[in-house]
Amino acid sequence: VFTLLPHAFAWLTERRPLAAVLGTELELRLFNYRDFTPLAGGQVDDEPYGGGAGMVLRVDVVCAALEAVYGGHAGRRIVALTPQGQQLEQELVEELAGEEALTILSARFEGFDERILEHAATDAVSIGPYVLSGGELPAMVLLDAVARRLPGAMREESGAYETFSAAFEGGLEHPHYTRPAEFRGWRVPDVLLSGNHAAVEEWRRSQRRARSLP
Ligand code: ADE
Repeated sequence: VFTLLPHAFAWLTERRPLAAVLGTELELRLFNYRDFTPLAGGQVDDEPYGGGAGMVLRVDVVCAALEAVYGGHAGRRIVALTPQGQQLEQELVEELAGEEALTILSARFEGFDERILEHAATDAVSIGPYVLSGGELPAMVLLDAVARRLPGAMREESGAYETFSAAFEGGLEHPHYTRPAEFRGWRVPDVLLSGNHAAVEEWRRSQRRARSLP
C-alpha cells in the first residue's frame, strides 16, 4: 500500500481478518510516498494545471516510489483508488484475492495526476458512488475484502465463506438472530427455535431469495 498516512492502517492489522493472515498468507507493506519523493522538502503534490482548487498527487513522485520499491519491474496488479474508477464488486475482490501480489495506491487532496491512472496503475477502482476525502478508507475496504478471502482469515464456524459465496452468486444473506428469543415483544422467528434443521434451511433459503430480488 502506498499512502501518505501509513499509520492510519495500524488498527486494521490488529483485527481479523488481516491479523489472522499477516505473516502467512499475507505480507503487508506500507510505503509513504514522501519517503521516495525526488522533490525538495518532501513535496508530493502540486497545483493543478489550468487552475482550480486543491492539490494533485504528482506522477513523478508515484513512479519514483514504485520504482524504488519494485525496481521498475512491478509486473503486478497496481490498483489506484479513485471515485472515477470501476466500482468494486465481489467479483473483482475474488480476482484480486487470487493475485500473487497486489499494490494499492491511495491519494489525498484532489486525487491523482491522470497519468498515474493511465500509465502507472493497471486498475482504477472506486469503492462506491460517493467521494471521500482520501484513498485510505477505500484502501482499507479493499484490504479487508481481499484479506478475508485468503485461507485461514475467518473462523471456520463463522460461516463467512457461505455468506460470501451467497453474496458472490449475486444474492444476499439470510437474517441472523441470537438470544434473547424475545426482547420488548420483538420475537425471533419461531422456525429458528423449532430445532427442525430442514425447516430452518428452507426458511433461510426463502429469505435469501426474497432479499435478493431486484
Ligand atoms: N477516493 C475518494 N473517494 C473514493 C471512492 N469512493 N472510492 C475510491 N477512492 C476514493
